Amino acid sequence: MTQDRWTAVDSFFHEKLIGEDDALDHALASGRKAGMPEIHVSAAFGALIHLLARTRGAERILEIGTLAGYSTIWLARALPAGGKLISLELDAEHARVARQNVSHAGLIDRVDIRIGEATESLAEMAGAGADPFDFIFIDADKRSNPAYLEGSLRLSGPGTLIVVDNVVRNGAVAGPDSGDPDMVGIRTMIDQVAANPRLTATAIQTVGGKGYDGFAVIRVD
Ligand code: SAH
Ligand code: DHB
Ligand code: MG
Repeated sequence: MTQDRWTAVDSFFHEKLIGEDDALDHALASGRKAGMPEIHVSAAFGALIHLLARTRGAERILEIGTLAGYSTIWLARALPAGGKLISLELDAEHARVARQNVSHAGLIDRVDIRIGEATESLAEMAGAGADPFDFIFIDADKRSNPAYLEGSLRLSGPGTLIVVDNVVRNGAVAGPDSGDPDMVGIRTMIDQVAANPRLTATAIQTVGGKGYDGFAVIRVD
């Protein structure tokens, strides 16, 4: 079983369960046109975080890593009326394109895209006593995952669900240790989770159009 098969199966479920979606398709096309890397979540994974956030009844969602707003749209669609999503993005051009895409999706009233180093934005929010988030999606630079987890925990309460993308990376997470700072960030974050008695967590390996990777799901108890 190899990449072609994984891609075909992703396409099969995409056609059956998701189909064409103007807002999502527009976000992907605009990201490509703007020359952004195609590192957005797959449609299948976008649908999964949407379902998790909706099932959690999330009214406040935090995203770390916006890119062109593809996952932002999936998550914002999980919000009830009056709900809020804050998405943190370092690159002002990414944020500009993402705002356009979120507007095009009719969701800009509930989405706030904040430009800057996510660690700083997280510290600012915690310092200002922001209300806890119900659902948090971590998907920015992987080397900062330990800081993103810590910052997220300061903005969490009992029942907050945290999903972290890209924790497997072709299996590299299980070693041998390459010293790659992104992989160090992923492994350190997993150690933090394991050492924290407040957290219940799992990690799932995935294959699909985007290759072999995986995600972690963490519940704050
Ligand atoms: N969640 C998006 C993909 C995000 S890609 C989706 O699935 O559609 C990762 C994003 O994180 C990029 O846009 C990148 O600019 C941003 N990023 C990288 N380093 C960052 C940092 N230090 N602070 C905030 N955002 C950062
Ligand atoms: C990369 C980042 C991602 O968030 C992703 O889903 C895939 C790849 C990257 O930085 O290479
Ligand atoms: Mg990712």
